[in-house]
Amino acid sequence: MHRLTTRHGLDMPAIGLGTWPMTGEQCTSAVRQALALGYRHIDTATAYNNEDAVGQALRESDVPREQIHLTTKVWWDRLAPTAMRQSLEDSLRALGTDHVDLFHIHWPGQDWDLARSIETLVALRDEGKARAIGVANFPLGLLRQVIEELGAPLSAIQVEYHALLGQQPLLDYARQHDLALTAYTPLARGRAAEQQVIRDIAAKHGVLPSQVALKWLLDQDGVAVIPKASSRENQLANLAALDVPLDAQDRALIAGLPKDQRVVSPEFAPDWNS
Ligand SMILES: NC(=O)c1ccc[n+]([C@@H]2O[C@H](COP(=O)([O-])OP(=O)(O)OC[C@H]3O[C@@H](n4cnc5c(N)ncnc54)[C@H](OP(=O)(O)O)[C@@H]3O)[C@@H](O)[C@H]2O)c1
Repeated sequence: MHRLTTRHGLDMPAIGLGTWPMTGEQCTSAVRQALALGYRHIDTATAYNNEDAVGQALRESDVPREQIHLTTKVWWDRLAPTAMRQSLEDSLRALGTDHVDLFHIHWPGQDWDLARSIETLVALRDEGKARAIGVANFPLGLLRQVIEELGAPLSAIQVEYHALLGQQPLLDYARQHDLALTAYTPLARGRAAEQQVIRDIAAKHGVLPSQVALKWLLDQDGVAVIPKASSRENQLANLAALDVPLDAQDRALIAGLPKDQRVVSPEFAPDWNS
């Protein structure tokens, strides 16, 4: 499978399985099924309350741990050094592993000591508990501060990105600084596939609109996608999106759709333009 690598330790399949909002047995069976179908990248977080369910699937699967890329995240109220360390320890215990492949700060903190949090994130990587580190939901200004002022060896940024929401400044910056950009909510929870432009392109190639929406992202240098899918049919369709043959005209038509429809913006979200 197509993989994204960085000089700071990331080696991640470009398609992963998003696991929010699945929990319990539903999550375990979806992850177990995804591994059996060929997924080798699973995205979880402490806030999803499903790391134990993901860990159960890892234990039940025949796929060796070293073949699976596992991402988890620490919530924004546990970013002080001791709390962040404890959060990752809790994640490792729930997941049943001694390291994750990518560890993200899930959201910027509130009234926090950014430098100390980043220092801890880097230390956890240096100690081998996370092979690579990154941040999620950081606006460009904050990401620049982490990379340029604090010199953190980040490998990835995870943000909402899909055919209806643009991320060009972050993407340009990520490429300049050897970061992968993981697109979360890549199907815009079904809204992308409702677009007539996308439906017409799908009909032209005899594929699904959701596959067109994913391939538009996957064709972009340095972009990974983590669609959440529980059914076998949707999991298989999303994996097969890699084979969809979009042409330059298709890409231009999708690029021309309005890019202002953000799906995820909770009250603790940062100012996205800062
Ligand atoms: N870092 C963050 O702050 C953050 C925020 C939000 C999400 N995420 C991550 O991103 C992942 C994905 O985002 P999301 O769940 O918000 O939205 P999404 O992946 O855009 O959409 C998920 C929805 O699309 C459906 N679906 C999946 N494949 C399909 C297909 N081939 N055809 C038709 N429908 C399909 C799923 O249904 P079924 O389940 O029925 O298959 C589900 O209802 C999450 O699970 C989570 O891991 C991260």
